[in-house]
This record gives sequence, structure tokens and C-alpha cells, in this order.
Amino acid sequence: MIIGHGGNKTALARELGCHVDEVVDMSANINPLGPPERIIQVIRDHVSTIQQLPEPDARSMVQGFARYHGIDPGTVIAGNGTTWFIYTLPLALQAQHVLILGPTYSDYADACRMHHIEPEFWIAPPETGFVPDLESVSNKAAHADLVFVCNPNNPTGVLLDPSVIITLLQRHPRTCFVVDESYLPFVADGDDRSLVHAGEYANLLVLSSMSKIFAIPGLRTGFLSGATGLIEKVRSYSQPWNVNALAQVVINDIYNHPEQIVPFYKKTRAFIAREKHWFLKEQADIPGLVPVAGHTGFVLARLQYHTAPQVCRRVGQDRILIRDCTNFHGLNYRFVRFSLKDRENNRKLGVSLKKALSQ
Ligand SMILES: Cc1ncc(COP(=O)(O)O)c(C=O)c1O
Repeated sequence: MIIGHGGNKTALARELGCHVDEVVDMSANINPLGPPERIIQVIRDHVSTIQQLPEPDARSMVQGFARYHGIDPGTVIAGNGTTWFIYTLPLALQAQHVLILGPTYSDYADACRMHHIEPEFWIAPPETGFVPDLESVSNKAAHADLVFVCNPNNPTGVLLDPSVIITLLQRHPRTCFVVDESYLPFVADGDDRSLVHAGEYANLLVLSSMSKIFAIPGLRTGFLSGATGLIEKVRSYSQPWNVNALAQVVINDIYNHPEQIVPFYKKTRAFIAREKHWFLKEQADIPGLVPVAGHTGFVLARLQYHTAPQVCRRVGQDRILIRDCTNFHGLNYRFVRFSLKDRENNRKLGVSLKKALSQ
């Protein structure tokens, strides 16, 4: 198994001798509002579907996604989370020179290594707030056949304007750009910024995770969309029943009620904006913690005097899990990431961080 993901609630609960539900997981970037209300009932009502095989290619789900975005269903594949695509892309596209814009989600690199490719990185420096420089990224992209871009980026929260990515697509028509938009639905004007609609580029693929925004990571669902030629290459690696029956029921239900999607997004965005504003304002006086300005509900923060393992351990004693970012390529032991939740838990985190950083 590939190593490098965030915290593990079960391991912390075991260490503290408490029940797993007593641990607040602020290390995973999941919608703090939880899934749309109707989802749990939909699952209850359709439990019996596990007795049958689902659609082998999750066709209804694909059609729902395509209908919602106004794109051709032939340019969409459904998968077992976007993770399945990330680990399949280097192989399906026969990539040899992969470039990763970092610091970013470690699975892009792990996926390359799984296929015996050592990726190259272009690391945005902290002094620029981790904002990539178009010209130097473009120079590097000229030598790559596959480029991973996470927008907005995990863990920095940096949001690229779509025009930056489009410039790269136009300058490097022979390079495939995979744009991971897993956190874009959390961004205020996320729908307008999405490249899911940019079907005219023959070198673009877009990853859309259902796990984060709909808070259903356990169901394992995501989409890949983009240029027909590239999609066909990936499709030839798809396995039947890649998306399980309950996951298909849930995603079909979401796209069969498109009128509920935008209100859910708006509610989520408003909640996150309010909590983030409150946390950063109220907790501005946490000594030695410097948040990086980002556009997501998760916050990357630099530790001035402490190390991430120390701080995570101390906050862990208060049964709060935050992410030690030491193992992100391009970051180091001075960075932690936390995903804001409701006010009560955010307040607890602030108190715990203050305590941890004053020791
Ligand atoms: C940027 C990014 N992309 C993709 C994933 C994978 O998500 P999933 O496989 O649940 O769609 C994650 C998970 O943390 C992520 O942070």
C-alpha cells in the first residue's frame, strides 16, 4: 500500500485509549456539513441493491454528471474515487516524463512510482504564498508528457485562475494536463472556474471527486472527464463494476435532483467562509502559527518555533487530529494543515493549538 496520507483516527483513539468517535478528525478535507440530507435516507432505502450487480460502467451516473455539466457523456468515466484515475493515468497514458506542481497531494507522485516513473516537481516557493510562476512552470512543462495540477491545491489552498491553465494547454499541445478539481466546488465561483466545460482542448483531463464536497469518502466515487482521445485510453484500463451499487444509487440520486446541488454548494461555501473568517480573526493571536492564505476550508499553517510532529502530538492529546505536513514534497516539519469544522470544534482546535504552541 502507498504511504503518505493524513491522520488515522483509529490509531489515535487506540493510543489514547478512547473510542474512535471521541476523536475529532480535522486532518481530512471533507465537507464539514456532512452529506446532503437526503443521502442517508437514500442509502437506507436502497440497501437491497447490494444483492445485484450494478451497471458495469456506471452509465447512469456518467450521464447524470454529463447532463449536470452540459457535456458529452462519451467524454466522462466514473471511477472508484478519483484515486483510481490518479493511479491509472501514468500507465494508461504511457507517461514517461511526469511533472507535478507542488507542494501538493502526494498520490500523484506515488502513482508515478507505482509505474516506475520518477516524477519531476516544480515547487512553488513559500515566499510567493506558494503561488506558481507561469513562465517557469511552462518551461518545465515543455519537457513533460503528463502534468498534474491540483486546483485549488491541497495542502496550500492556492487557487489558479483557469486562464493560467489554459495558457499552458495552448502552449504545450502535446503534453497532457490533469487538473484535479476535487476541492473546486468549495470555492465561491467554482463552477465558473471549472475546466470540465473546456472540452475543446485535446490535452486536458479533469478529476472531479465526489468524496470531498458531498462528504462521502467511504463510498469511493469520482469522475474523469476531458479530451475524447485521452478518455478512450483511460477507458481501455477500466474494470467492470468499478463503482459499487450503493455509490451508484447515491450519485444517481444527486444528479437526478440537480436543483438541490447549487443550494448545497452555496450553503457549504457560506459555512466555510464564515468559519474560516472567524477562526483566522479570533485565533490571530496564536503565537508561532502563520496561516498561508488559501481558498479552501482547510488551512495550511507554518510553525515558527515548533515542529509539526510535536504540535500534532500535543493537539492529539486533546483528541483532535490535524495533519503533519512533513511528508509533503516541498514542505517540511514546520507545516501543519487542519480542516475547519463547526464552531465548537474550531474553538476547541484554537484552544488546543494555543496550548500546544505555548509549551
Ligand atoms: C487533491 C486530492 N485529489 C484526490 C483525492 C482522492 O479522493 P477520492 O479518491 O476520494 O476522490 C484527494 C484525497 O484526499 C485529494 O486531496
